[in-house]
Amino acid sequence: MARILVTGGTGYIGSHTTVELMQQGYDVVIIDNLSNSTSAVLDGIAAIVGTRPAFEQVDCNDPQAVADVFTKYTDIQGVIHFAASKAVNESVEQPLKYYRNNLMSLITVLEQMKAHNVHNIVFSSSCTVYGQPAEEHLPVDETAPIQVALSPYGNTKQINEEIIRDEAHANTQLHATILRYFNPIGAHPSAMIGELPNGVPQNLLPFVTQTAIGLRKELKVFGDDYNTPDGSCIRDYIYVVDLAKAHVKAVERMLNRQATEQVEVFNLGTGRGLSVLEILKTFMQVTGVNVPYQIVGRREGDIEQVWAKPDKANNVLGWKADTPIEDVLLSAWRWEQKIRS
Ligand code: UD1
Repeated sequence: MARILVTGGTGYIGSHTTVELMQQGYDVVIIDNLSNSTSAVLDGIAAIVGTRPAFEQVDCNDPQAVADVFTKYTDIQGVIHFAASKAVNESVEQPLKYYRNNLMSLITVLEQMKAHNVHNIVFSSSCTVYGQPAEEHLPVDETAPIQVALSPYGNTKQINEEIIRDEAHANTQLHATILRYFNPIGAHPSAMIGELPNGVPQNLLPFVTQTAIGLRKELKVFGDDYNTPDGSCIRDYIYVVDLAKAHVKAVERMLNRQATEQVEVFNLGTGRGLSVLEILKTFMQVTGVNVPYQIVGRREGDIEQVWAKPDKANNVLGWKADTPIEDVLLSAWRWEQKIRS
């Protein structure tokens, strides 16, 4: 079976994807600089799969170290590139860090892939590239216009997509799949791996679970005066395990030479938008735990509503995100309980 190089494989989405790849029989080598994760994640993966993935502590910005990985693992047939900095706020405060980390790591990986005759890459992008889509583009499909990025983080996703397109144009052997994620949430059903936010969580679900367990006093709901049915923002929350499975499908499609375009783009979402208040209420219902909350003002830069039209991924990749939201929220809660126990 083929080996897949997973950059950022000890991170949240990377670790779940590694599990799915290994369970489908792929060999994996993870590279990660552990800047926002720990090697204990490898134990979690091993506990689920029964085997430990190969791991190299390597920074994707280090060309020699990345070259050494390709030299050591001669059976690599594709790369899934997750490694990136992802905190929106931090990217506003430290733009150069974000441009250096996120752009240079992709460039380095593409250079080393070419030097070592590896021609398949899956890239982690985000629905952030669509900004707030106009009403006629909701739900969002892959043809919706890309809008000016609201943060350096978002801009790195857009620029990286362009880097991939330009390189594919120049290097006709390269095949790329760009996956635009909506809002990944939840944890593996085993509770062996999950999201491990650094410090105070900025994302909704980790804040909800940390409040439920008593680490935070109350959730602040950012705005109830939006033009949505209950006034709170709407997102397409996708189960991280469903998301991970889409990566396996994308890899298979490239390795089997089924792609019809050199660069293919897929929106990965459920097709259903849920509001902040709906998430909160469903969480309380399924867990039976009260989550104190307060409605506060809008968060700067927030998008009112966005959800995916995932038809292309459903039909072309043969993939669907179909885990019920109740199960997804319970998985997040079990994970929170596990890491605090
Ligand atoms: C954010 C980023 C997006 C990034 C994604 C990665 C912004 C503007 N966007 O998306 O670029 O790709 O994370 O996961 O930062 N909320 C609260 N209270 C909280 C936290 C969140 O009410 O304490 C609300 C937000 O206002 C939003 C929703 O929950 O309506 C989801 O927020 P979040 O999890 O931060 O995701 P996004 O803002 O969609």
